[in-house]
Amino acid sequence: MSDNKANQTVKNLESAFAGESMANRRYLYFARQCRALGADDVAAVFEDTANQETAHAFGHLELLYPPEDLSVEKMLSLAIEGETHEYTTMYPEFRHTALEEKEHAAAAEMDEQIAESREHAERFSSLLDTAARRFAALTTVEKRHANRYQQALDGFSE
Ligand SMILES: [Fe+2]
Ligand SMILES: [Fe+2]
Repeated sequence: MSDNKANQTVKNLESAFAGESMANRRYLYFARQCRALGADDVAAVFEDTANQETAHAFGHLELLYPPEDLSVEKMLSLAIEGETHEYTTMYPEFRHTALEEKEHAAAAEMDEQIAESREHAERFSSLLDTAARRFAALTTVEKRHANRYQQALDGFSE
């Protein structure tokens, strides 16, 4: 995407990605309800359409996060950022509002989401730590190789 991270097209793609992603989950949910109601033919159309919505969402993602810009570490960092926002800011605020509005089922659901988002962030963080350690170990090995190579060269010139 263009360098202007905040331009309107980027914002539109973010909204379109959100909409397509929601359509995917909503249709899968509708499909499940249709099956429970015995409408298997309608359920099948919802499921098929849901798959197409996923393809639409991925199309937007490829523009928002071009594959050539993505390293494993970058993806883990983005995921940690999102999950952390959820459990530190978004869900606590939603929970507060739910309690104010006496929406107790919603507040309880928010509590579960806070716990789950924290678990997700921690799981991604431990992977990121492993990746960082692996990288650090690699650079040490490379440095050792470089030193040995230099010693060999020095040996030649003596
Ligand atoms: Fe779509
Ligand atoms: Fe999550």
